[in-house]
Amino acid sequence: MAVFRVLFVCLGNICRSPMAEGVLRNEAAKAGATDTFEIESAGTGSWHIGNPPDPRAQAAALERGADISALRGRLVDEEDFERFDLMVAMDRANYAVLKRMAPKDQVHKLRLAMSFVDGARVDEVPDPYFGEGAGFEHVLDLLGDVAQGILAARREGRI
Ligand code: 4NP
Repeated sequence: MAVFRVLFVCLGNICRSPMAEGVLRNEAAKAGATDTFEIESAGTGSWHIGNPPDPRAQAAALERGADISALRGRLVDEEDFERFDLMVAMDRANYAVLKRMAPKDQVHKLRLAMSFVDGARVDEVPDPYFGEGAGFEHVLDLLGDVAQGILAARREGRI
């Protein structure tokens, strides 16, 4: 199967989207689909360009088997809309930024992360940055479901 390129997008690119990247990479590996996915992450805000993921995000992801320590923050750029097949925003605010940036013929690549989870009780992945540690566990629970949803959608030819 052709390589399918996925970009996860949040605000800072140091919490949610790098965790999403690590989780999908892990789940794809478990499903024997490593070679059919290319996964990256980026942010819409510039504060953390070049920085590793937040230590809380690194620790929580590692607990679940995803080492994201080598990732570095970067901004979403124009080229991403050409390069990726799917761009997954963590919340509505980031979706709106992508929609404004997107060339018209690439808007179909944009999705909200939680749209991959049937029957989800939330429609956004909440920003854990300013909260307590438990927020990261909740985010990882959601991102596990998102990853399964993306793998299933790809398997079934829905994306
Ligand atoms: P993220 O979390 O969007 O999940 O990476 C944030 C990280 C940093 C900031 C905001 C959100 N910040 O304002 O610095």
